[in-house]
Amino acid sequence: MNNNVITLSGLNKSFKHQSGDNPVLRQINLQIKTGEMIAILGASGSGKSTLLSILGLLDVADTGNYKLCNQDVSALSAYQLSQLRNQHIGWVFQNFNLIADMTVAENLAVPLRYNTAVNPAQYAERINNVLTLVGLADRSSFYPDELSGGQQQRVAIARALICEPDILLCDEPTGNLDSSNAAKIMSLLGDLHQKGKTILIITHDNSVAECCEKAYKMHDGELSPLEDEEYKRAV
Ligand SMILES: Nc1ncnc2c1ncn2[C@@H]1O[C@H](COP(=O)(O)OP(=O)(O)OP(=O)(O)O)[C@@H](O)[C@H]1O
Ligand SMILES: [Mg+2]
Repeated sequence: MNNNVITLSGLNKSFKHQSGDNPVLRQINLQIKTGEMIAILGASGSGKSTLLSILGLLDVADTGNYKLCNQDVSALSAYQLSQLRNQHIGWVFQNFNLIADMTVAENLAVPLRYNTAVNPAQYAERINNVLTLVGLADRSSFYPDELSGGQQQRVAIARALICEPDILLCDEPTGNLDSSNAAKIMSLLGDLHQKGKTILIITHDNSVAECCEKAYKMHDGELSPLEDEEYKRAV
């Protein structure tokens, strides 16, 4: 046993296309330890979201090994994968992905309904706790279109946290925000990191990567550590 939340060894993934197999991830090795906050930078099309989909158990690799919380995910059924996803992974997307005709509180209840470990009697308290954490306890009855973009992303982070996951997977979490709201979201993610949450952020933005303690770059499906001087250059 070790304290890795994620361990990837020799992961490969190709997509089939009429022009032939298109290799998208090549021999990816990655370890993310409990409590780390790391960034993955890389040009458009380099394979970042594909990697995140595999890490988030939405897609599977062709070859290689993936252990989530020391559990080999390759042999699990679809039901087991969905349980693992619900209990261990919190997702934050660029476009927030809130359900438009549900209030903030109703959006936050959605992942709880799939989590058999949480008693419905605890929903209201859980919802209030995560909304307080992101500074939006007074917005629980609002609909997403009654919130600013930055507030919507804070609700999305609250939703990602509500099942107390082991890791937050964030795909361009500041991509749709102005610089002031982006800074607020990074400050919130930094606070969560200080409290011990493990966070992986995919980004094009070097200033986002600078908030992380470790950064990697994806280039043509290959992942490698980002050297200090590369933080300063735009990807
Ligand atoms: N479902 C799919 N079928 C076929 N090819 C795909 C599929 N999904 C992604 N690809 C290909 O995989 C490559 C990597 O895509 P991916 O979405 O991972 O890139 P990305 O690094 O996240 O880019 P961006 O920064 O633009 O979001 C692209 O060349 C894309 O065309
Ligand atoms: Mg992407």
